[in-house]
Amino acid sequence: MATTVSTKPQFVRDSVEAAIPAAADLSPHDARLDHPARLILKAPYFSSRLGAAYVGDSLEMLQALPSSSVNLVVTSPPYALHFKKAYGNEHKDRYVNWFLPFAKEIQRVLTDDGSFVLNIGGSYNKGTPTRSVYHFKLLIALVEEIGFHLAQECFWYNPAKMPVPAEWVTVRRIRVRDSVEYVWWLSKTPYPKASNLNVLKEYSEDMIRLNRNGVRGATRPSGHVIRESFDKIDAGGSIPPNVTETDFDVPESMMKMGNNAANDIYTKRCKEAGIKIHPARFPALLPKFFIKLLTDPNDLVLDPFAGSLTAGAVAEQLDRRWIAGEAVEDYLKAGTFRFEDFAQNPLLF
Ligand SMILES: C[S@@+](CC[C@H](N)C(=O)[O-])C[C@H]1O[C@@H](n2cnc3c(N)ncnc32)[C@H](O)[C@@H]1O
Repeated sequence: MATTVSTKPQFVRDSVEAAIPAAADLSPHDARLDHPARLILKAPYFSSRLGAAYVGDSLEMLQALPSSSVNLVVTSPPYALHFKKAYGNEHKDRYVNWFLPFAKEIQRVLTDDGSFVLNIGGSYNKGTPTRSVYHFKLLIALVEEIGFHLAQECFWYNPAKMPVPAEWVTVRRIRVRDSVEYVWWLSKTPYPKASNLNVLKEYSEDMIRLNRNGVRGATRPSGHVIRESFDKIDAGGSIPPNVTETDFDVPESMMKMGNNAANDIYTKRCKEAGIKIHPARFPALLPKFFIKLLTDPNDLVLDPFAGSLTAGAVAEQLDRRWIAGEAVEDYLKAGTFRFEDFAQNPLLF
């Protein structure tokens, strides 16, 4: 039987042992034997029941991780933005070269059935109403130079994105609002661990009606044949598409949800403490969907551009182990708010 592990998050700056007791001091069934802080010699900045966060350059953190130790990397690096965020953004022309060393390490640390889910936003070219293709170039380099497989391209629909650049969208009115970000789901081998049964949606009213009334076998105008067995909706839910709108708490591969959730514990505690809110968080729903789709409980999830620790907190909520890396200590510090009262209130998102 696993020993109960303290759920109280800890700040530990001086030693790994302060985060987790030495393996020799634990019984063979103690859950802390598996704690991811054991994988890296450096002391984490912050540790929780299932995870550890490190301050510094994540390239070094990745290099310190053993090969084939991580089941899923889900992350959102700084994009090649024209209007730069406080944490800095690489220029479009240098972006692929900047990112590839991270990608090489990510490929090395992933298990053979592991996945790399990369959220990346598009960007305008300077001075013209035309779009950069830097994120497509990156995708091609990840596949053709690093050797990842493109499992699926998914999308995050973010209706809260600002109508920018103002000159093209709100002043000259020659471009529409950009409301989508890309989520490249890549894998180390063609058959990564994945089960869409873990992310089923509730059946729609239409599906339920069809099931009740039954369908006759027919050929659609597209040529697809609908068999009579089509109406058996006993599979537990419908399969989510990679582009979908959804309710807040139903995981789907495209999320009709902004990242400005004003009432989550992170935002509330940042405001109370007078701490600046991270300027580019992704919604918890995004890592949640992919963690459920691509991992099992106790698997290891890594976010090397962790910001406010969204992915780590979601992983913990879903009983996955996690590791996070972030260059800016203040972002991690505020991210630890997500772990407050976690044991009492695990549904923080
Ligand atoms: C788009 S934000 C990620 C936000 C995060 N998904 C969240 O929900 O809060 C990218 C983050 O990468 C961090 N970063 C940039 N370069 C880094 C590096 N070399 N190592 C670690 N973190 C880095 C930035 O400080 C920034 O917080």
